[in-house]
Amino acid sequence: MTDKLIIFDTTLRDGEQSPGASMTKDEKLRIARLLERLRVDVIEAGFAASSNGDFECIRSIAGAVKDSTICSLSRANDRDIARSAEALAGANRARIHVFLATSPLHMEKKLRMTPEQVFEQAVSSIRFARNLCEDVEFSAEDGYRSDPDFLCRVFEAVIKEGATTINVPDTVGYAIPELYGDFIKDLRERIPNSDKAIWSVHCHNDLGMAVANSLAGVKIGGARQVECTINGLGERAGNCSLEEVVMAIKTRKDYFGLDVNIDAQHIVAASRMVSQTTGFVVQPNKAVVGANAFAHASGIHQDGVLKARDTYEIMRAEDVGWAANKIVLGKLSGRNAFKQRLQELGVEMESEGEINAAFTRFKELADRKSDIFDEDILALVSDEHAIS
Ligand code: KIV
Ligand code: ZN
Repeated sequence: MTDKLIIFDTTLRDGEQSPGASMTKDEKLRIARLLERLRVDVIEAGFAASSNGDFECIRSIAGAVKDSTICSLSRANDRDIARSAEALAGANRARIHVFLATSPLHMEKKLRMTPEQVFEQAVSSIRFARNLCEDVEFSAEDGYRSDPDFLCRVFEAVIKEGATTINVPDTVGYAIPELYGDFIKDLRERIPNSDKAIWSVHCHNDLGMAVANSLAGVKIGGARQVECTINGLGERAGNCSLEEVVMAIKTRKDYFGLDVNIDAQHIVAASRMVSQTTGFVVQPNKAVVGANAFAHASGIHQDGVLKARDTYEIMRAEDVGWAANKIVLGKLSGRNAFKQRLQELGVEMESEGEINAAFTRFKELADRKSDIFDEDILALVSDEHAIS
């Protein structure tokens, strides 16, 4: 098994399935270029057969983005697959991603097909796709709620037909980390040719566990591809968030022991671009990309961070593209943080007594006003000079 984790970004396909998040061709192209700069391994650019517009988006991304593999989603039928192949014709590296539901509920109620028919369709669609493209992914939609015996049969057969990636989606966000990890481990152990394909996780966030489930799929299950989106954009409660999963792998390399290609310096830019394009605001306390992710407001934390950043920071803001961490001055701030901000603002005080007096006035102000700006501090300090 390799120690490289493949990052498959589906912001432009599953992310766009978020109600209200639809993007124009130009917007998608801009995002795809930034994903390439981020060094995403695979960009799922759309679902070619879903509309002429999506087809054109995939075609233009395939023509413009050369360093990432470009992928198009297809249902498990020849028409969809041929349309994907056509849209991907200009790509340096192309992938066709074929999906078919395998859970009893989806097969019976949605597809109205017997398991045997689903099995046959999975096999024949992968055979067809492999004639058009060397890189073919098979996803068992609602895989986590599928019967493991049936999944083993389907996966073994599609790997024999040449599927290069096997994806086990938790389509409805029902999984629990340990159970999902064990589920994938069990499948991999039972399927004789499992090591002929890369195993992939694709988790939705309905119970807020998409990132935890994906990481368990990697650590316990041995998956080596994670499907994710910028800001966790996606259907309903969203998908696994790229920035969280990537920074977990990088920050806890001691635990995961895996490498990712991602150039994390572009993470904040990608988050901003996706947020501005879709109008989906990033919550301030969102891990990694939220405005408060590297902000310190309490005096004790500020003092700690000013003495040694590791006291309250496990990652560096600068490493993911923020200009710096933030010491937010307010009523909880301590004298040390106040003094540091005076220095940053170029204010020189002659004595400790002068600083103490200014600090007292700052605390009085902070009790009345929740946001203290640099202008407030400068005004307060010039008052202080006027008084003394
Ligand atoms: O959630 C899902 O099952 C999907 C598949 C099409 C991979 O998005
Ligand atoms: Zn999905």
